[in-house]
Amino acid sequence: MNFTVAIDGPAAAGKGTLARALAAHFGFAYLDTGLLYRAVGAGVLAGGTPIAVARALDPADLENDALRTQAVADAASQVAVIPEVRAALVAFQRDFARRDGGVVLDGRDIGTVICPDAAVKLFVTASPDVRAERRYLELVARGITADRTAILAEVLARDARDQDRATAPLVAAADATLIDTSDLSAEAAARQAIAVVETRRL
Ligand code: DC
Repeated sequence: MNFTVAIDGPAAAGKGTLARALAAHFGFAYLDTGLLYRAVGAGVLAGGTPIAVARALDPADLENDALRTQAVADAASQVAVIPEVRAALVAFQRDFARRDGGVVLDGRDIGTVICPDAAVKLFVTASPDVRAERRYLELVARGITADRTAILAEVLARDARDQDRATAPLVAAADATLIDTSDLSAEAAARQAIAVVETRRL
């Protein structure tokens, strides 16, 4: 039996935290699909061409702390507009989603393109100001000097690029449950998500 939870939403909305909390609560496997695009972005920053890097991607490439930087996030968002890059990453995501048992995937197009038949679809969002502030605090906690205004501009630019691209743009699936985390703690957001999953598991 397979049970898929698809989580989509903009950058820094709390998708990853929520996805990990759900996976831990239910004992599900978790795939952060942003890492695939980040790995391609990192390969391009290292001199590769996007489509070739995407086609040669190895799962081992995903376990790399260097993928967490802002430069890589930006490169990821840029390669993510290329249809051939997206196409090269579909099989890996669908294979993961088809595993036996429960799986959680988070990204931008999971409920709409990768797993349109997912048992549960969540669209996790928060206001741009809240997302920029979270990103700022996260960077400061990691000892990185950051500028709030620049981070907000980056969040808005990435939103625009992810939402406006022609192939698999960021959009809530018609049957997704919206979770706005602007005024929620991570724990409160996780409780909402767990409640949604519980209703579909009965
Ligand atoms: O979730 P993230 O910030 O790690 O994602 C980095 C970029 O990758 C994001 O700005 C757009 C792209 N992406 C995508 O297009 N589709 C996905 N399913 C996941 C990420």
